[in-house]
Amino acid sequence: MTAQENNAVIRREDYQPPLYRITDVALNVHLDPENTEVEARLHFQRLGSEPVSALHLDGESLELLSVLRDGQPLAENLFRSDATGLTLLNPEPEFLLETRVRIHPAANSTLSGLYFAGGQFLTQCEAEGFRRITYYLDRPDCLAKFTVTLHASRKTCPVLLANGNCIAQGDEDNNWHWARWEDPYPKPAYLFAMVAGDLAVQRDVFVTQSGRSVALEIYVAARDLGACDQAMVSLKRAMRWDEEVYGREYDLDRYMIVATDSFNMGAMENKGLNIFNSKYVLASPETATDTDYQGVESVIAHEYFHNWTGNRVTLRDWFQLSLKEGLTVFRDQEFSADMNSRGVQRIGDVRRLRAAQFPEDAGPLAHPVRPDAYSEINNFYTATVYEKGAELVRMIHTLLGKEGFRRGTDLYFERHDGHAVTIEDFVEAMEDANHYDLSRFRRWYSQAGTPQVKAEGSYDPARRSYTLTLQQFTPATPGQSNKEPVPVPVRMALLNTQGEKAVLDKTGATEKVILLEQARQSWTFEDLPDPVIPSLLRGFSAPVRLDIALDEQARSFLAGVDDDPFNRWESTQELALKSLLAGVKNHQELEALPAALEQALSATLKQSQMDPAFRAELLTLPSEDYIGEQMQVIAVDAIHQARETLLDTIGAHFHDEWLGLYQDLAGAYERDGASIGRRRLRNMALSYLIHSDHSRHEDMTLHARQQYVQADNMTDRLAAFQLLVQHPKHDAEDILLDFYQKWQDYPLVIDKWFAIQAMAPRPDTLRHVQHLLVHPAFDWRVPNRVRAVLGAFSMNPTMFHAADGSGYVFFAEQIRRLDDINPQTAARLATPLSRWQRYDKVRQQGMMNALQLLAAKTNLSRDLAEVIQRSYP
Ligand code: PHE
Ligand code: ZN
Repeated sequence: MTAQENNAVIRREDYQPPLYRITDVALNVHLDPENTEVEARLHFQRLGSEPVSALHLDGESLELLSVLRDGQPLAENLFRSDATGLTLLNPEPEFLLETRVRIHPAANSTLSGLYFAGGQFLTQCEAEGFRRITYYLDRPDCLAKFTVTLHASRKTCPVLLANGNCIAQGDEDNNWHWARWEDPYPKPAYLFAMVAGDLAVQRDVFVTQSGRSVALEIYVAARDLGACDQAMVSLKRAMRWDEEVYGREYDLDRYMIVATDSFNMGAMENKGLNIFNSKYVLASPETATDTDYQGVESVIAHEYFHNWTGNRVTLRDWFQLSLKEGLTVFRDQEFSADMNSRGVQRIGDVRRLRAAQFPEDAGPLAHPVRPDAYSEINNFYTATVYEKGAELVRMIHTLLGKEGFRRGTDLYFERHDGHAVTIEDFVEAMEDANHYDLSRFRRWYSQAGTPQVKAEGSYDPARRSYTLTLQQFTPATPGQSNKEPVPVPVRMALLNTQGEKAVLDKTGATEKVILLEQARQSWTFEDLPDPVIPSLLRGFSAPVRLDIALDEQARSFLAGVDDDPFNRWESTQELALKSLLAGVKNHQELEALPAALEQALSATLKQSQMDPAFRAELLTLPSEDYIGEQMQVIAVDAIHQARETLLDTIGAHFHDEWLGLYQDLAGAYERDGASIGRRRLRNMALSYLIHSDHSRHEDMTLHARQQYVQADNMTDRLAAFQLLVQHPKHDAEDILLDFYQKWQDYPLVIDKWFAIQAMAPRPDTLRHVQHLLVHPAFDWRVPNRVRAVLGAFSMNPTMFHAADGSGYVFFAEQIRRLDDINPQTAARLATPLSRWQRYDKVRQQGMMNALQLLAAKTNLSRDLAEVIQRSYP
C-alpha cells in the first residue's frame, strides 16, 4: 500500500451522531496467549426513527467465529465482514447481537487491543483499540454499561481484573478460574480495560471528603512491591487535591493501577483500572532519579484527574482530544506546582513546551489544538494537543481568575456529567458561569502556529509616563495562510531603578494582566517618577514568542531583581542565549565570559539562601535545540561548539565556586524538596567542574568516578555516570560494564544505560548505537527500550544530525523495521525527520532521503504513512 492509498482523511466537520446506541455490553473472554476467544453480547437500540439500511461495527484483526441476532444465527445476506469490521444490513430498531471472535494476544506487538507481554494479558483501547478485541461502535460518543467475565489459567493468571467492581468469581475445569466485573458507569470503549497475570498488590485506603472508603490497589511484579510508595502517596495526594481544589470526589469503591514494561505511552486512565508504563509507577532511591520520582507524581495525578476530566465527562469525537488532555495536563501541572515549588514547576513546563511544542507548531506537522482532519488519530497525541492545550486552559484561568475558573468547571461538570461533549461546551461553560465573552479566544483552538509578540516601551520624563506597545503576528502554518489576532493575556509589572514594582493604576496594583487583542495596541501608565523596566509575560502568561528590545544592562538588572521567578530565569536565559548566538558565529568570543552574563551568574552563585532547585535553573544554559530554534538555519556543529566553549568558560571562571558548592552540598539522601534541590545543584556543580578541566591540570572526572562508586541513590549515581560516559575525551568502558552488571535486572535502569550512550556527543556514538541494537537486552517489542536507543539517538543534536547523513540513514532503516512491529511508536519516533527545512542544504537532503526511504517501504502503516506524507512540503 502506498502512502496515499492508506490515508483516508477524517474531518471534524463530517461528524455524524451514531445511528444506534448500545445500552449494555457483556463480554466473556477466554484468555490464552495464542488463541483468545471473545464472546460479546451487545444490546442495540436505534436512535432515530428512520430505518437504517446498514450499521457498521468497527473490527480489526478479528477472526469471526459466529454471529447471532436475538439468539438466532444471522443469515449470510444480513451481514458483511471485511478488514474494517462487520456491517449489519437492515437491522431491526432493537436487537441483541452476539458475536464470537478469536484473537492472538501473544502475536500482537502493536500494544493496541489485547496483548500478552511479560507474562500478562493487558489491554490498551485508546484511541481505537477496542475494535481489536470485538466488533463494536468504537467511538467515544457511544457510552455503554459493561460487564466482563474473564476466564484464565489459575496458575499463570491468579489475578483477573477489569473496570468497576468484582461481582462474582469461581473455579472451573482444568485449573482455570473466572471473575466477573461490572462497571456501573456507562463509558466509551476507549476506557475499557482488563488485565490478567501473576501480580502482587500494594494496598491502601483513601477516605473521601464525604466519608466513603476507597480501596487503592497498585499491581506490580512481586519483586517490585517495594517500589510503589511514591505512586501510592501521589495517588492519595491527588485524590485529596481534586476534592479541595475542584470539589471532585472519586466515585467507585476501588481504584486500581497496573504497571507494565510494555506500553506505548505514559499511562492510561481506564475507568477504575489505570494501566501504567512501569516508568511512572516504580521508584526506589536506588533505581529512580529525583526526576523519575516527579514523573511518577505527575502521571499518577494526571490519570487520576482524568476520572472527572475525560471519564465522567468524555469526548464527543477525537477532534476534541484536547478537551480532556489539555485540561488534565493543566490540572496535573497545578497539582505539581502545589506539591513542589511553583516557580520551578512553571520553568519546567515552559521548557517542555518550547522544546517540543514550539518546533512542532513551526513545522510541517503543525496543527490546531482542535485539529480539523486526521488520517490516524494516534498521531495526534501531540505536544500541541497536550501542552499547548494546557496553556489555553491556563489562559482562561488567568482571564477569569481562580474563583471564576472554578465557577466554570462547576458548571461544566453540572451540565455535562455522563455525556460526551466538545471543546465548545467547555468554553461555553466558562463563559456562562462568568458572563465573559470568549468568542475571540476560540481562535486559539482553531489556529495553529505560535504567535509572535513584539514589545516596545518608552518612558517620557516630561509626562512621567511609560507607554508600552505590543504587536502580534502568527506565521502561516500548513493549510492556514491567514491568521487572525488572538487575545494574549500579558501579565506585567514595571520595575523602577531600585527594582521595586511601580504602581500601575489608581487601584494601587503593581502587577496586572493586560489583554492584547488587536494586531497592535498601546498602554500608557501614568505618575511614574522614574524610568522603569518592563517585566512582561510574567509566569509565561501566554504561549507566545516574546520579542522585546531590552539592552544587556536591563536584562541583567531583571536577572538580579525580578520577583517573578519565571521572568528572572528568562532574563538569565536571554543573556546566555545572546552570548551563545554570538558564539555560534565565532566560538572564540566565548573563551572569556561576557560581562552581563558573568554578573548574573555570579549574583546567583552568591545567593546561598535561595532555593537550590531554582538556583540550578538559573545556572542552566539553554539547550542546543533551543539555541537552534532561534536561528534561520540550525548550525548544528557551531552550536555545539559554542555551548561547550561557554560551559568550559563558566566552569573555569567559577571553578572555586563550583568546588565549594560541590563540597558544601554533600549530604545524606532524603526525599524532601530541599534535598532534591541540593542534589540538583550539586550535580550541576560537578558538571561545571568537569568543564573546568581544560584550563587546569587536574582531572575533575575523578570526582565523578568517586561519586559514581559512593552514591547511595540513583540521582547522584546516574549524574556521575552520564558525565563519565558522555565525556568527549575520557573513555568509560569500565563504568559502562559495571553499571550494566549492577542493574541488569532492572529494565527501567537499563533504559537509562542505553539512552545515555545514544545521547553522547561523541564521534563514535553511531557505532555504539549500532551495537546497542544487537545487545542481548535490546528488544524491538518493548517501546521503552526502543525509545531508549532510537528516541534518544534522534535527540542527539550532533550525532543524529551528522553532516554525512549517516545518522539519518541508520535511523530510517530502524524505523522501517519498527513499523512492522509497532506502527504507533514508529510514527512517533519518525517525527524529528519532519524538521528538515530547518537545516542546511546537505542535511536537508539527508533527511529527505531518509523520508523517501521510509515512503518506499512495503506495507507502510497508516500511522507512519501519515507522518511521512505531512512531512513533505
Ligand atoms: N490518555 C492517556 C493520557 O494522557 C494517553 C494515552 C493515549 C495512553 C493513547 C495510551 C494510548 O493520559
Ligand atoms: Zn491524559
